[in-house]
Amino acid sequence: MPIVNRIADFHEEITEWRRDLHEHPELLYDLPRTSKTVADRLKTLGVDEVVTGLGQTGVVAVIKGNKGKSSKVIGLRADMDALPIEEATGKEYASKTSGKMHACGHDGHTAMLLGAAKYLAETRNFAGTVVLIFQPAEEGGAGAQAMIDDGLLERFGIQEVYGMHNYPGIPVGEFAIRSGALMAAADKVEISIEGYGSHAARPNASIDPVVIGAAIIQNLQTIASRNVDPLESVVVSITAFHAGEAFNVIPQTAELWGTCRSLSPDVRDLAEERIRMIVENTAAAFGGKATLKYGRDYPVTVNNEEKAAFAAKIAGQIVGDSKVDTNVAPVMGGEDFSFMLEQRPGAFIFVGNGDTAGLHHPEYDFNDEIIPIGVSYWAKLVETAMSA
Ligand code: NI
Repeated sequence: MPIVNRIADFHEEITEWRRDLHEHPELLYDLPRTSKTVADRLKTLGVDEVVTGLGQTGVVAVIKGNKGKSSKVIGLRADMDALPIEEATGKEYASKTSGKMHACGHDGHTAMLLGAAKYLAETRNFAGTVVLIFQPAEEGGAGAQAMIDDGLLERFGIQEVYGMHNYPGIPVGEFAIRSGALMAAADKVEISIEGYGSHAARPNASIDPVVIGAAIIQNLQTIASRNVDPLESVVVSITAFHAGEAFNVIPQTAELWGTCRSLSPDVRDLAEERIRMIVENTAAAFGGKATLKYGRDYPVTVNNEEKAAFAAKIAGQIVGDSKVDTNVAPVMGGEDFSFMLEQRPGAFIFVGNGDTAGLHHPEYDFNDEIIPIGVSYWAKLVETAMSA
C-alpha cells in the first residue's frame, strides 16, 4: 500500500500551503500569522474542534472517526516556528522577512499535518479520536512543554503521541527510526570566571581570567575522553569566550558559553557533575573563582519500543519495508518533542528530505516531493492504530 491516492490528489494544494508558510516565517512563540493561518485552515477543513492559545500560540484540532466507538485518543504533532537566519535559497517563495527563514522544514511539517487533517476530516475511516498538535517554539523555546503545562495531554485525553521530522541526506521515499534514544538531551553551559585585572605589563599582579578560561576549556575535554564510558556518547563544546577589551589590560572577568549533549540520564548527570568540578576547581587552582550555571534544556528523545516498531511498520506500508531503516544511529541534535515522549508512549520518525542542504543552513529548503509520503504516513498511522 504505497501513497494514499486521495492524498496524492491534493499534493499541489498542500505544496501551496507549505510555500505560503515558507514566505512568512515567524520565530518562537511570536507566531501571529502562522498560528492564525493554521487555525483558519483547520476550520475550513471541517475538523470537529479547533482550540487556539495553548502554549501561547499553539493550535489543536480534534477529529473523531466514524468507524465505530472507541475511547482511544492519539496525538500527532507538528512544529510551526522558523529560525533567525537570512535565507539564501533564491526560491520564488523565499522568505519575505529579512533575517528569518524556515530553515528546519517546520513549514513542511505544519503543511503535512494540515494535509492529514484534510484527509482524516473527509474520510474519518477510523474509530476513536485524533488530536492534531501544532506547537510553537521548537527552536529553543520549549513550546512542547508550554503546551503540556497548559494541560494539552489531559484536556484532550491523549494516550499516545507521534512526531515526524524531515531529514536531509536520507533519500526521498525512505524513513529512519530507532527504538530508545533517538536524539540527545541538549543543555546550556554558562561559566562566569572572576579573576583580578591588572596592567598587561604586570601579569604577576593579576589573576588572569583568560588563562583560567583556557585551562577550563582544556580540562573539559577530559569529560569525553576520561569520564564517560567510551561506548556511550557525550558532547561538551565551548562555543563562546568573552573577555577583555584592550591590548594592554588583563581583564577582571571572563564568560564561557557552550553546550552539553548526551543520550542517557546517567551520562547527563555525570557530565554536569564533572563540568561543575572542573570549572570550580580549575579556577581555584589559579587563585580565581568560577561558577557554573547549567541549564537543562531538552531531554533525550526516547522512542517507546512498541510504538517505534508500530511507526516503522506504518512507514513500511507507505514506502516498502526495505526503505525503512529501523536502527538509525542516534543524532546529537535536540528536539523538544522529547517532552511529550516523557509523558506518553510514542515515537518520533525521520522522513528522507533527499539531497538538500542541511537543517539550519541558509540554502536549506523543505522538499515538497515528500508531502504525500508524510501525509500518507499520518493517515495510515491513524487508520491502523484505531482500526476498530
Ligand atoms: Ni526542526
